[in-house]
Amino acid sequence: MTWVANRVSCDQDIAADGFFSLGMIADFQASLECHGASFYRHLFWESGLVGQVLYLEAEAAGVRATGIGCFFDDPVHQVFGLRDLEFQSLYHFTVGGPVDDPRLTTLPPYGQRVKARPRGMDLP
Ligand SMILES: Cc1cc2nc3c(=O)[nH]c(=O)nc-3n(C[C@H](O)[C@H](O)[C@H](O)COP(=O)(O)O)c2cc1C
Repeated sequence: MTWVANRVSCDQDIAADGFFSLGMIADFQASLECHGASFYRHLFWESGLVGQVLYLEAEAAGVRATGIGCFFDDPVHQVFGLRDLEFQSLYHFTVGGPVDDPRLTTLPPYGQRVKARPRGMDLP
C-alpha cells in the first residue's frame, strides 16, 4: 500500500519510504458554517500546529519528519471514502529515518547574532 502514499503525495518517495505518513483530515464544512469562512485559515493553523508537534516529537525520538504540502486531495478523499466537503484533507506528514543530503549546507541558527555577543555571553 505504500504506493498509495507515494501517488497521492505528488509521487514523492518521502511519503512512502518512511515509518508512516499521514493526512490531517479537517472537520471542514460544519466548522466553516459554524464559525464563518475565515475559520478556513484557522484550520490550517491547527494543522500546522500538529505538524510542529510531529516535527519536535520525531526529533526527540531520534528520527525525522517532514511536512508534506504537495498532495492530491481528491484521490485522498477517494482512498478514505470521503465525499463532498464534510471533511477536507489539509496537510500531510511523513516520519522516518533521516537521509542526509550532502549537497546541503547547515549554518548555525542566528549565527550573526551569536557572533555579536560580548565575550562570556555565549549560549551553552
Ligand atoms: C507547509 C509545508 C509543506 C511542505 N511540503 C513538502 C513536500 O511536499 N515535500 C517535501 O519533501 N518537503 C515538504 N516540506 C518540507 C520542507 O521542504 C523542508 O524540508 C522543511 O520545511 C525544513 O526546511 P529547513 O530544513 O530549511 O528548515 C514542507 C514543509 C512545510 C512547512
